[in-house]
Amino acid sequence: MKIFTVVGARPNFMKAAPIINAIREFNEKAAREKRSNPSGRAPIQHTLVHTGQHYDEAMSDKFFADLQLPRPDIHLGVGGGSHGTQTAEILRKFEQVLIEQRPDVLIVVGDVNSTIACALAAAKLPVDNGASRPLVAHVEAGLRSFDRTMPEEQNRILTDHLADILFVTEPSGLKNLRREGIASNRIHFVGNTMIDSLLAHKSKAAASGVLDELQLRVASTSNGAAPRVSPYALLTLHRPANVDNRQAFGRILEGLAPLAAQMPIIFPAHPRTAKRIEEFGFGDKIRTHEAALTAAAHDSVSLRAGIRMIPPSGYLDFHCLMQFAKLVVTDSGGIQEETTCLGVPCVTVRENTERPVTITSGTNVLGGVKPAGIRKAIAKQLKRRRGRKIPAKWDGKSAKRIVSVLAKTSV
Ligand code: UD1
Repeated sequence: MKIFTVVGARPNFMKAAPIINAIREFNEKAAREKRSNPSGRAPIQHTLVHTGQHYDEAMSDKFFADLQLPRPDIHLGVGGGSHGTQTAEILRKFEQVLIEQRPDVLIVVGDVNSTIACALAAAKLPVDNGASRPLVAHVEAGLRSFDRTMPEEQNRILTDHLADILFVTEPSGLKNLRREGIASNRIHFVGNTMIDSLLAHKSKAAASGVLDELQLRVASTSNGAAPRVSPYALLTLHRPANVDNRQAFGRILEGLAPLAAQMPIIFPAHPRTAKRIEEFGFGDKIRTHEAALTAAAHDSVSLRAGIRMIPPSGYLDFHCLMQFAKLVVTDSGGIQEETTCLGVPCVTVRENTERPVTITSGTNVLGGVKPAGIRKAIAKQLKRRRGRKIPAKWDGKSAKRIVSVLAKTSV
């Protein structure tokens, strides 16, 4: 069996890495079995494709290094652009790759433009000379925010309806897909491969030096005790609806103001968000880490309060920052799931979520996008005790389940 896995943007890398590892383990096992039984299972031939949707060192290369992902076998080098341009360019280049290489199965993950573009290229591949088109397997299928203004929601719905095999992370996904008429025998509830990565890297991440770099540890007063982590919050914002409009972004900052007065808010900013902060002149509300350090030489609060912007973090540093945060405030999808797994309170700065299990059994609440709602949600979450109820099958074995389903698929 010849399998292609596609990655393109930052949130794809940690979802794909465990699948690649599980394929390697499958092949090692198959090779061992072959020695005693020559007619045993054949290995899977795997090819990793990077579309280049994210291209900065901080948004892509650092993740390959942190997750020990192999170098992509094929790089489409697509880069940025409008949704139409980016999607079309991936579609055009990837179709050519598929025509030349003819994989049996294409794995796409998540809900980014690379996901829909590659699924579409495979689903419509011309069938000639008896060659069949690849089966499309969608990892993280069935999630729905029911908000069609989100580009990711369009990508999710379209990819699910192009896919032949659908791997679901939480019970709501099963319900949504059945309601949309997708045959049950194509749907597999396997859990969450992003959580496979989170669990696999937990202790390595905890040892990251980022808390010291950001001066988030304070010396203990008792003799010989290890320095303790001082309370801080972690913030990410990158949804176009939240950061591309000055008023909308300004309202979120208003909602964050009481928290910023209480503790430092560490803000690894997506490149587009960083551009907007400069464009909108929000420098008085959001300081860079360097500016906070300089100011700290003159006053004592600069490092103990305020929003502190840092460059986008790598996987391990971000994982560490999440683990030790008092609270995480975000508009990301995946971070809602990661905080649930880590038992860290999370406020999602959105009106909806496609990941309801993070609210029903996890640590997430929706704060909305208005100042009063955000303030209220933050106050509630700061009082919440850390704790966790892990959603079903978020146990670090999801990628193994995926590979076992694929290995049994006839192509
Ligand atoms: C994409 C995904 C979003 C995901 C996010 C995570 C879609 C529709 N959106 O959004 O679901 O949560 O990734 O980061 O696919 N840029 C850089 N360097 C990079 C990448 C992007 O500077 O390496 C800047 C460019 O100005 C680019 C812009 O960010 O045009 C937007 O990037 P794009 O890939 O279009 O979407 P994201 O906002 O990153």
